[in-house]
Amino acid sequence: MEHPYGDLDPPPRLLLGPGPVNCDPRVLRAMAMPMLGQFDPVFTGYMNEVMALYRQMFQTANRWTFLVDGTARAAIEAVIVSLVQPGDVVLVPVFGRFGHLLAEIARRARARVHTIETEWGTVFAPERMEEALLRHRPKLVAVVHGDTSTTMAQPLAHIGALCRRYDALLYVDATATLGGMDVPVDAWRLDAVSAGLQKCLSGPPGSAPLTFNERVVERVLARKHVEQGIRPPRSGAGPGEIIQSNYLDLPMLMDYWSEQRLNHHTEATSMLYAARECARIVLAEGLERRLQRHELASRALTAGLSAMELELFGDQTHKMPSVTGVVIPEGISGNAVRAAMLEDFGIEIGTSFGPLHGRIWRIGTMGYNCRKQNVLLCLGALEACLRRQGFRSTAGAGVDAALAAYTDAGGA
Ligand SMILES: Cc1ncc(COP(=O)(O)O)c(C=O)c1O
Repeated sequence: MEHPYGDLDPPPRLLLGPGPVNCDPRVLRAMAMPMLGQFDPVFTGYMNEVMALYRQMFQTANRWTFLVDGTARAAIEAVIVSLVQPGDVVLVPVFGRFGHLLAEIARRARARVHTIETEWGTVFAPERMEEALLRHRPKLVAVVHGDTSTTMAQPLAHIGALCRRYDALLYVDATATLGGMDVPVDAWRLDAVSAGLQKCLSGPPGSAPLTFNERVVERVLARKHVEQGIRPPRSGAGPGEIIQSNYLDLPMLMDYWSEQRLNHHTEATSMLYAARECARIVLAEGLERRLQRHELASRALTAGLSAMELELFGDQTHKMPSVTGVVIPEGISGNAVRAAMLEDFGIEIGTSFGPLHGRIWRIGTMGYNCRKQNVLLCLGALEACLRRQGFRSTAGAGVDAALAAYTDAGGA
Protein backbone atom coordinates (compact mmCIF):
# COMPACT_ATOMS: atom_id res chain seq x y z
CA MET A 1 0.00 0.00 0.00
CA GLU A 2 1.27 3.43 -0.84
CA HIS A 3 2.17 5.52 2.18
CA PRO A 4 0.03 8.65 2.54
CA TYR A 5 3.12 10.83 3.02
CA GLY A 6 5.32 11.44 0.00
CA ASP A 7 9.07 11.72 -0.24
CA LEU A 8 10.59 14.62 1.63
CA ASP A 9 10.94 17.32 -0.98
CA PRO A 10 11.43 20.67 0.75
CA PRO A 11 11.20 23.64 -1.60
CA PRO A 12 14.46 25.44 -2.31
CA ARG A 13 14.73 28.41 0.01
CA LEU A 14 17.28 31.11 0.58
CA LEU A 15 17.37 31.39 4.36
CA LEU A 16 18.17 35.02 5.10
CA GLY A 17 16.71 35.09 8.58
CA PRO A 18 18.66 35.03 11.85
CA GLY A 19 19.31 31.28 11.55
CA PRO A 20 19.11 28.49 10.64
CA VAL A 21 20.82 29.32 7.34
CA ASN A 22 21.46 27.21 4.26
CA CYS A 23 24.08 24.60 5.03
CA ASP A 24 27.29 24.61 3.09
CA PRO A 25 26.85 21.60 0.74
CA ARG A 26 30.19 20.28 1.97
CA VAL A 27 28.65 19.97 5.44
CA LEU A 28 25.66 18.04 4.09
CA ARG A 29 28.06 15.76 2.23
CA ALA A 30 30.02 15.13 5.44
CA MET A 31 26.78 14.19 7.21
CA ALA A 32 26.12 11.46 4.66
CA MET A 33 29.31 9.61 5.63
CA PRO A 34 28.88 6.12 7.16
CA MET A 35 28.38 5.50 10.86
CA LEU A 36 31.29 4.38 12.99
CA GLY A 37 31.23 2.84 16.44
CA GLN A 38 31.83 5.45 19.11
CA PHE A 39 35.02 3.75 20.33
CA ASP A 40 36.36 2.97 16.86
CA PRO A 41 39.83 4.53 16.84
CA VAL A 42 38.96 6.32 13.60
CA PHE A 43 35.95 7.93 15.27
CA THR A 44 37.80 8.85 18.48
CA GLY A 45 40.44 10.31 16.16
CA TYR A 46 37.71 12.50 14.63
CA MET A 47 36.65 13.54 18.13
CA ASN A 48 40.20 14.67 18.86
CA GLU A 49 40.34 16.52 15.55
CA VAL A 50 37.11 18.30 16.43
CA MET A 51 38.64 19.41 19.73
CA ALA A 52 41.71 20.76 17.93
CA LEU A 53 39.64 22.49 15.24
CA TYR A 54 37.40 24.26 17.75
CA ARG A 55 40.39 25.40 19.79
CA GLN A 56 41.36 27.32 16.67
CA MET A 57 37.81 28.54 16.12
CA PHE A 58 37.58 29.84 19.68
CA GLN A 59 41.22 31.05 19.62
CA THR A 60 41.98 29.21 22.82
CA ALA A 61 44.43 26.80 24.36
CA ASN A 62 41.66 25.33 26.54
CA ARG A 63 42.00 21.57 26.72
CA TRP A 64 38.25 21.27 27.28
CA THR A 65 36.88 22.24 23.92
CA PHE A 66 34.29 19.83 22.58
CA LEU A 67 30.71 19.43 21.35
CA VAL A 68 27.55 19.18 23.38
CA ASP A 69 24.90 17.23 21.45
CA GLY A 70 21.79 19.32 21.04
CA THR A 71 21.02 22.78 19.75
CA ALA A 72 22.92 25.81 21.02
CA ARG A 73 20.98 25.98 24.24
CA ALA A 74 22.22 22.52 25.20
CA ALA A 75 25.72 23.93 25.72
CA ILE A 76 24.33 27.01 27.48
CA GLU A 77 22.45 24.77 29.86
CA ALA A 78 25.43 22.42 30.34
CA VAL A 79 27.58 25.33 31.51
CA ILE A 80 24.98 26.88 33.76
CA VAL A 81 23.61 23.70 35.31
CA SER A 82 27.13 22.36 35.94
CA LEU A 83 28.43 25.59 37.46
CA VAL A 84 25.49 26.88 39.45
CA GLN A 85 24.72 25.38 42.83
CA PRO A 86 21.40 26.33 44.41
CA GLY A 87 21.64 29.77 45.98
CA ASP A 88 24.64 30.93 43.92
CA VAL A 89 24.38 34.51 42.71
CA VAL A 90 24.32 34.89 38.92
CA LEU A 91 24.34 38.20 37.09
CA VAL A 92 22.80 38.39 33.62
CA PRO A 93 23.01 41.59 31.57
CA VAL A 94 19.92 41.41 29.33
CA PHE A 95 19.84 43.29 26.04
CA GLY A 96 17.48 40.97 24.15
CA ARG A 97 15.60 37.70 24.19
CA PHE A 98 18.61 35.48 24.71
CA GLY A 99 19.71 37.32 27.84
CA HIS A 100 16.30 36.42 29.24
CA LEU A 101 16.99 32.82 28.23
CA LEU A 102 20.27 32.76 30.19
CA ALA A 103 18.49 34.18 33.24
CA GLU A 104 15.70 31.64 32.91
CA ILE A 105 18.12 28.71 32.69
CA ALA A 106 20.02 30.01 35.74
CA ARG A 107 16.74 30.36 37.68
CA ARG A 108 15.85 26.76 36.85
CA ALA A 109 19.27 25.79 38.25
CA ARG A 110 18.01 27.57 41.42
CA ALA A 111 20.49 30.43 41.25
CA ARG A 112 19.72 33.78 42.80
CA VAL A 113 19.58 35.68 39.53
CA HIS A 114 20.09 39.41 39.18
CA THR A 115 19.53 41.01 35.81
CA ILE A 116 20.40 44.41 34.48
CA GLU A 117 18.51 45.54 31.44
CA THR A 118 18.97 48.02 28.65
CA GLU A 119 16.55 49.00 25.92
CA TRP A 120 16.47 46.52 23.03
CA GLY A 121 18.67 47.96 20.29
CA THR A 122 21.36 49.12 22.73
CA VAL A 123 24.18 47.45 24.68
CA PHE A 124 25.85 47.97 28.07
CA ALA A 125 28.69 50.36 28.83
CA PRO A 126 31.45 48.68 30.88
CA GLU A 127 30.66 51.02 33.81
CA ARG A 128 27.16 49.54 34.11
CA MET A 129 28.61 46.05 34.21
CA GLU A 130 31.10 47.07 36.87
CA GLU A 131 28.44 48.75 38.98
CA ALA A 132 26.34 45.55 38.87
CA LEU A 133 29.35 43.36 39.70
CA LEU A 134 30.10 45.55 42.67
CA ARG A 135 26.51 45.56 43.88
CA HIS A 136 25.70 41.86 43.46
CA ARG A 137 29.09 40.14 43.75
CA PRO A 138 27.99 37.24 41.50
CA LYS A 139 29.77 33.90 41.25
CA LEU A 140 28.89 33.83 37.57
CA VAL A 141 28.19 36.44 34.93
CA ALA A 142 26.32 35.03 31.92
CA VAL A 143 26.09 37.26 28.89
CA VAL A 144 25.18 36.97 25.22
CA HIS A 145 27.75 38.17 22.69
CA GLY A 146 25.49 38.82 19.71
CA ASP A 147 21.77 38.74 20.46
CA THR A 148 19.99 37.92 17.22
CA SER A 149 16.69 39.16 18.65
CA THR A 150 17.94 42.76 18.60
CA THR A 151 20.89 42.37 16.14
CA MET A 152 23.20 43.99 18.73
CA ALA A 153 26.64 42.72 19.81
CA GLN A 154 27.83 43.44 23.33
CA PRO A 155 31.51 44.53 23.40
CA LEU A 156 33.31 42.00 25.57
CA ALA A 157 37.02 42.78 25.24
CA HIS A 158 37.24 44.25 28.75
CA ILE A 159 34.53 42.33 30.56
CA GLY A 160 36.69 39.28 31.22
CA ALA A 161 39.27 41.30 33.15
CA LEU A 162 36.48 43.06 35.02
CA CYS A 163 34.94 39.76 36.10
CA ARG A 164 38.30 38.53 37.36
CA ARG A 165 38.72 41.70 39.40
CA TYR A 166 35.46 40.83 41.18
CA ASP A 167 36.20 37.11 41.29
CA ALA A 168 33.29 36.12 39.04
CA LEU A 169 33.36 33.52 36.29
CA LEU A 170 32.27 34.75 32.86
CA TYR A 171 30.17 32.65 30.49
CA VAL A 172 29.49 33.98 26.98
CA ASP A 173 26.81 32.79 24.55
CA ALA A 174 28.49 33.15 21.15
CA THR A 175 25.85 31.11 19.30
CA ALA A 176 25.29 33.74 16.66
CA THR A 177 28.78 35.23 16.47
CA LEU A 178 31.33 32.42 16.23
CA GLY A 179 32.55 32.38 12.63
CA GLY A 180 30.99 35.79 11.92
CA MET A 181 32.66 38.00 14.52
CA ASP A 182 35.91 37.82 16.41
CA VAL A 183 35.62 35.67 19.57
CA PRO A 184 39.18 35.46 20.95
CA VAL A 185 38.39 33.47 24.07
CA ASP A 186 41.82 33.56 25.73
CA ALA A 187 42.70 37.14 24.79
CA TRP A 188 39.38 38.36 26.21
CA ARG A 189 39.73 36.12 29.29
CA LEU A 190 36.35 34.47 28.80
CA ASP A 191 35.96 31.46 31.10
CA ALA A 192 33.37 29.50 29.12
CA VAL A 193 31.98 30.15 25.65
CA SER A 194 29.53 28.18 23.54
CA ALA A 195 28.09 28.32 20.04
CA GLY A 196 25.79 26.51 17.61
CA LEU A 197 26.26 25.30 14.05
CA GLN A 198 23.19 26.79 12.37
CA LYS A 199 24.29 30.39 12.09
CA CYS A 200 27.68 31.68 10.95
CA LEU A 201 29.10 28.13 10.82
CA SER A 202 26.66 27.10 8.04
CA GLY A 203 25.70 23.76 9.53
CA PRO A 204 22.40 22.30 10.71
CA PRO A 205 21.10 22.90 14.23
CA GLY A 206 21.94 20.07 16.60
CA SER A 207 25.50 20.43 17.84
CA ALA A 208 26.85 23.02 20.25
CA PRO A 209 30.62 23.66 20.35
CA LEU A 210 31.84 24.62 23.82
CA THR A 211 35.12 25.65 25.41
CA PHE A 212 36.01 26.33 29.04
CA ASN A 213 39.14 26.96 31.06
CA GLU A 214 40.69 25.63 34.25
CA ARG A 215 38.74 28.07 36.44
CA VAL A 216 35.56 26.36 35.27
CA VAL A 217 37.12 22.89 35.52
CA GLU A 218 37.98 23.45 39.16
CA ARG A 219 34.40 24.47 39.96
CA VAL A 220 32.66 21.65 38.08
CA LEU A 221 34.98 18.84 39.17
CA ALA A 222 34.04 19.62 42.76
CA ARG A 223 30.56 18.39 41.76
CA LYS A 224 31.68 15.26 39.96
CA HIS A 225 29.47 12.22 40.51
CA VAL A 226 30.01 9.56 37.85
CA GLU A 227 26.88 7.49 37.22
CA GLN A 228 26.74 4.03 38.72
CA GLY A 229 27.24 1.31 36.15
CA ILE A 230 30.14 3.05 34.45
CA ARG A 231 31.87 4.40 37.56
CA PRO A 232 35.46 3.10 37.68
CA PRO A 233 36.52 1.44 40.94
CA ARG A 234 37.78 3.79 43.63
CA SER A 235 36.47 6.90 41.87
CA GLY A 236 35.14 9.13 44.62
CA ALA A 237 32.50 11.82 44.33
CA GLY A 238 33.32 15.51 44.57
CA PRO A 239 32.33 17.42 47.71
CA GLY A 240 29.87 19.67 45.86
CA GLU A 241 26.20 19.07 45.20
CA ILE A 242 25.40 16.59 42.41
CA ILE A 243 24.68 18.28 39.06
CA GLN A 244 20.91 18.10 38.43
CA SER A 245 21.21 17.05 34.78
CA ASN A 246 22.84 13.80 33.75
CA TYR A 247 22.85 14.59 30.03
CA LEU A 248 24.46 18.00 30.49
CA ASP A 249 26.88 17.08 33.28
CA LEU A 250 30.21 18.63 32.27
CA PRO A 251 32.47 16.34 34.36
CA MET A 252 30.93 13.28 32.71
CA LEU A 253 31.20 14.90 29.27
CA MET A 254 34.86 15.63 30.03
CA ASP A 255 35.49 11.96 30.87
CA TYR A 256 33.87 10.95 27.60
CA TRP A 257 35.96 13.40 25.55
CA SER A 258 39.19 12.58 27.44
CA GLU A 259 41.59 9.70 26.74
CA GLN A 260 39.58 7.81 29.33
CA ARG A 261 36.59 7.70 26.88
CA LEU A 262 34.33 6.85 29.76
CA ASN A 263 30.99 6.15 28.12
CA HIS A 264 28.28 8.73 28.64
CA HIS A 265 25.82 9.35 25.77
CA THR A 266 26.38 7.99 22.26
CA GLU A 267 28.06 10.83 20.41
CA ALA A 268 25.80 12.13 17.61
CA THR A 269 27.96 10.75 14.82
CA SER A 270 26.55 12.68 11.85
CA MET A 271 26.46 15.93 13.83
CA LEU A 272 30.11 15.45 14.75
CA TYR A 273 30.92 15.01 11.07
CA ALA A 274 28.99 18.21 10.40
CA ALA A 275 30.72 20.19 13.15
CA ARG A 276 34.11 18.99 11.95
CA GLU A 277 33.37 20.08 8.38
CA CYS A 278 31.97 23.45 9.49
CA ALA A 279 35.19 24.24 11.33
CA ARG A 280 37.42 22.97 8.52
CA ILE A 281 35.63 25.25 6.06
CA VAL A 282 35.89 28.30 8.32
CA LEU A 283 39.57 27.75 9.04
CA ALA A 284 40.40 27.07 5.39
CA GLU A 285 38.90 30.44 4.50
CA GLY A 286 40.72 32.03 7.46
CA LEU A 287 38.97 33.68 10.40
CA GLU A 288 40.08 37.15 9.39
CA ARG A 289 38.91 36.90 5.80
CA ARG A 290 35.65 35.44 6.95
CA LEU A 291 35.02 38.27 9.37
CA GLN A 292 35.81 40.78 6.62
CA ARG A 293 33.30 39.03 4.35
CA HIS A 294 30.61 39.44 7.03
CA GLU A 295 31.53 43.12 7.57
CA LEU A 296 31.35 43.83 3.86
CA ALA A 297 27.96 42.14 3.43
CA SER A 298 26.65 44.17 6.35
CA ARG A 299 27.96 47.40 4.83
CA ALA A 300 26.44 46.59 1.44
CA LEU A 301 23.09 45.50 2.85
CA THR A 302 22.72 48.50 5.15
CA ALA A 303 23.75 50.85 2.31
CA GLY A 304 21.07 49.26 0.13
CA LEU A 305 18.36 49.43 2.78
CA SER A 306 19.17 53.07 3.56
CA ALA A 307 19.09 53.91 -0.16
CA MET A 308 15.58 52.41 -0.21
CA GLU A 309 14.72 54.91 2.54
CA LEU A 310 14.21 52.17 5.09
CA GLU A 311 15.24 52.83 8.68
CA LEU A 312 17.87 50.56 10.24
CA PHE A 313 17.10 49.33 13.73
CA GLY A 314 19.25 49.92 16.80
CA ASP A 315 22.60 51.44 17.67
CA GLN A 316 24.51 50.94 14.42
CA THR A 317 27.91 51.14 16.12
CA HIS A 318 27.09 47.88 17.92
CA LYS A 319 25.23 46.08 15.16
CA MET A 320 26.20 42.46 14.49
CA PRO A 321 27.60 42.16 10.97
CA SER A 322 25.66 38.92 10.45
CA VAL A 323 22.14 40.22 11.16
CA THR A 324 20.50 43.51 10.27
CA GLY A 325 17.33 44.90 11.81
CA VAL A 326 15.04 46.92 9.55
CA VAL A 327 12.15 48.98 10.87
CA ILE A 328 8.88 48.01 9.16
CA PRO A 329 7.61 51.23 7.55
CA GLU A 330 4.35 52.82 8.73
CA GLY A 331 1.32 51.32 7.06
CA ILE A 332 3.15 48.23 5.78
CA SER A 333 2.23 44.75 6.95
CA GLY A 334 5.45 43.07 8.05
CA ASN A 335 3.90 39.63 7.73
CA ALA A 336 2.54 40.28 4.24
CA VAL A 337 5.99 41.34 3.01
CA ARG A 338 7.65 38.32 4.61
CA ALA A 339 5.03 36.02 3.08
CA ALA A 340 5.54 37.55 -0.38
CA MET A 341 9.32 37.26 -0.05
CA LEU A 342 8.88 33.57 0.75
CA GLU A 343 6.16 32.70 -1.74
CA ASP A 344 7.26 34.77 -4.72
CA PHE A 345 11.04 34.71 -4.28
CA GLY A 346 11.74 31.73 -2.02
CA ILE A 347 13.58 34.04 0.38
CA GLU A 348 13.06 33.81 4.12
CA ILE A 349 13.67 36.86 6.27
CA GLY A 350 13.11 36.98 10.03
CA THR A 351 10.28 38.28 12.14
CA SER A 352 10.94 39.49 15.70
CA PHE A 353 10.01 38.84 19.32
CA GLY A 354 8.94 40.58 22.49
CA PRO A 355 9.01 44.39 22.39
CA LEU A 356 10.11 44.27 18.74
CA HIS A 357 7.27 42.02 17.61
CA GLY A 358 5.74 43.50 14.46
CA ARG A 359 8.23 46.39 14.52
CA ILE A 360 11.29 45.05 12.69
CA TRP A 361 12.41 42.47 10.17
CA ARG A 362 15.73 40.76 10.70
CA ILE A 363 17.88 39.93 7.70
CA GLY A 364 20.70 37.46 8.21
CA THR A 365 23.87 37.34 6.14
CA MET A 366 25.52 34.43 7.88
CA GLY A 367 28.27 32.02 6.91
CA TYR A 368 27.62 30.30 3.60
CA ASN A 369 24.78 32.72 2.84
CA CYS A 370 26.90 35.78 3.45
CA ARG A 371 27.65 36.70 -0.15
CA LYS A 372 27.14 39.43 -2.70
CA GLN A 373 24.51 37.60 -4.77
CA ASN A 374 22.31 37.02 -1.75
CA VAL A 375 22.55 40.62 -0.58
CA LEU A 376 21.52 41.81 -4.06
CA LEU A 377 18.74 39.23 -4.42
CA CYS A 378 17.34 40.15 -1.05
CA LEU A 379 17.32 43.88 -1.77
CA GLY A 380 15.76 43.42 -5.21
CA ALA A 381 13.05 41.12 -3.86
CA LEU A 382 12.35 43.35 -0.88
CA GLU A 383 11.93 46.36 -3.14
CA ALA A 384 9.41 44.49 -5.30
CA CYS A 385 7.46 43.17 -2.31
CA LEU A 386 7.36 46.60 -0.66
CA ARG A 387 6.23 48.28 -3.88
CA ARG A 388 3.28 45.87 -4.14
CA GLN A 389 2.32 46.94 -0.62
CA GLY A 390 2.35 50.59 -1.68
CA PHE A 391 5.78 51.61 -0.32
CA ARG A 392 7.61 53.94 -2.70
CA SER A 393 11.34 54.36 -3.05
CA THR A 394 13.63 55.15 -5.99
CA ALA A 395 13.56 52.10 -8.27
CA GLY A 396 16.78 50.10 -8.12
CA ALA A 397 18.35 52.35 -5.48
CA GLY A 398 18.90 49.53 -2.98
CA VAL A 399 20.64 47.14 -5.36
CA ASP A 400 22.72 49.99 -6.83
CA ALA A 401 23.94 51.13 -3.42
CA ALA A 402 24.86 47.60 -2.38
CA LEU A 403 26.67 47.00 -5.68
CA ALA A 404 28.57 50.25 -5.15
CA ALA A 405 29.61 49.11 -1.66
CA TYR A 406 30.99 45.88 -3.13
CA THR A 407 32.71 47.75 -5.94
CA ASP A 408 34.31 50.19 -3.48
CA ALA A 409 35.61 47.24 -1.50
CA GLY A 410 37.15 45.81 -4.63
CA GLY A 411 34.84 42.91 -5.45
CA ALA A 412 32.77 40.20 -3.80
C1 LIG B 1 22.26 34.32 20.73
C2 LIG B 1 21.51 33.03 20.73
N1 LIG B 1 21.60 32.22 21.78
C3 LIG B 1 20.94 31.05 21.83
C4 LIG B 1 20.14 30.64 20.80
C5 LIG B 1 19.39 29.35 20.94
O1 LIG B 1 19.85 28.43 20.04
P1 LIG B 1 19.12 27.04 19.75
O2 LIG B 1 17.80 27.37 19.15
O3 LIG B 1 20.06 26.40 18.76
O4 LIG B 1 19.04 26.26 21.01
C6 LIG B 1 20.03 31.44 19.66
C7 LIG B 1 19.16 31.05 18.54
O5 LIG B 1 18.67 31.84 17.77
C8 LIG B 1 20.72 32.67 19.63
O6 LIG B 1 20.65 33.50 18.57
